[in-house]
Amino acid sequence: MHFWKKENRYSKANKNWHQGLGHKEKLSQKFMIDIGVIGSGAMGAGIAQVAASAGHNVLVYDNSQAALDKAKAGLESTLKKLVEKQKITEQDSKSIQDRTKYVSSLNEFKSCGLIIEAIVENLEVKQKVFSELENIVSADCIMASNTSSLSIASIASACKKAERVIGIHFFNPAPLMPLVEIIPGIMTDEKVEKTSRELIDKWGKITVLTKDTPGFIVNRVARSFYGESIRIYEEGMADFATIDWAMRTVGGFKMGPFELMDFIGNDINYKVTESVWTQFFYEPRFKPSLTQKRLYEAKLFGRKSGRGYYNYAEGAVMPKPLENEELGKAIFYRVISMLVNEAADSLYLQLASAEDIDLAMTKGVNYPKGLLQWADELGLTNILGILNNLYLEYGEERYRPCVLIKRMVNENRTFYPRPDLPEGKKVIVN
Ligand SMILES: NC(=O)c1ccc[n+]([C@@H]2O[C@H](COP(=O)([O-])OP(=O)(O)OC[C@H]3O[C@@H](n4cnc5c(N)ncnc54)[C@H](O)[C@@H]3O)[C@@H](O)[C@H]2O)c1
Repeated sequence: MHFWKKENRYSKANKNWHQGLGHKEKLSQKFMIDIGVIGSGAMGAGIAQVAASAGHNVLVYDNSQAALDKAKAGLESTLKKLVEKQKITEQDSKSIQDRTKYVSSLNEFKSCGLIIEAIVENLEVKQKVFSELENIVSADCIMASNTSSLSIASIASACKKAERVIGIHFFNPAPLMPLVEIIPGIMTDEKVEKTSRELIDKWGKITVLTKDTPGFIVNRVARSFYGESIRIYEEGMADFATIDWAMRTVGGFKMGPFELMDFIGNDINYKVTESVWTQFFYEPRFKPSLTQKRLYEAKLFGRKSGRGYYNYAEGAVMPKPLENEELGKAIFYRVISMLVNEAADSLYLQLASAEDIDLAMTKGVNYPKGLLQWADELGLTNILGILNNLYLEYGEERYRPCVLIKRMVNENRTFYPRPDLPEGKKVIVN
């Protein structure tokens, strides 16, 4: 399926989503299963809202009563706002709340056809919950994890029926972010993968299928956006404000890397980088920076702590960028080349299709364009030239160009058909 066709499907499905109850009628009998959500924190509460809005009966369990109470109150307040904005009716709001039950024991999950776990990111704790759950649910219940960084294979290894375990990775906030990564583990049954993907599609989400590798697509490819920008800063090429300005104005990104890291939280962003790096056996491309590690250690997490790369205290003056066009372009081309290199490597290693890699970055982290499409437009020869120069100058493995880019440049290939290009340049790779 092509990129643009998925776009159409998304807009249509998302419209259904807002119709609340109306969507229930559109779910066929096959999909009318009860959904269980384990963990009612930021992600679990959001996933429960999505499932209940799609017409399911949803059971939410958390081992903290306070977290359950907070999720219940949060849902009520969110739905109230949606009613005020006329996105849903009063009746939809009531039905969604009636369909959502907050329970204090996993034993209540017997009737569920799909359970999505969104508890603390700790392998031992997740394994314990999965193995406990398996003794409660029916034989054909799908057990999914919303983990961001743990391998599905390792979570599934705690279960007798590892073939029913899959990764279903939502983005924060789940009700608003359209992307969901579907991650079958090494043992996952194909039917489990197909049913999970079809169901989440029916919820109005855009699903991409990816392999069980660290960071999946989004959290792997996006590492270069942060890592290369920090490196540029560390070398003294430009300050935070100038790098952010360059990526916004030259690149068209909604947020620059430093404002985005401050928004996500430097604690979370640093930990994800460290986790991807270690799980890739210390691959230099993912190496974390000391700059961010020090911010993390000093608890300068960003917006939520009042200070990160920038100071958010009342009255603090934001630094002004050096709006030099030439410098802006140099920054943008260096970062985009590293991003394209990672996206191309993900395609080369068959993590996902080119369309899914591009969808993941546009719908999961709001990039202005899919990276592979962008590479075609900028010219792969130019990207390879920049990477080769960096690799030669620094002699560091982090800058080595992906073999796919080298081959494609040699063979005059593009990632997508380009009717605007002369004959001979229209070959596609996937
Ligand atoms: N926050 C994000 O941006 C984000 C995005 C995608 C995926 N994730 C993943 O989603 C999962 C949850 O993240 P979150 O941000 O919602 O965390 P959170 O801290 O907001 O919520 C976790 C909830 O799990 C509960 N919990 C902990 N251990 C439990 C147990 N043994 N049994 C039942 N409940 C338990 C806690 O009480 C808490 O309410 C993690 O695996 C995380 O990696 C997070």
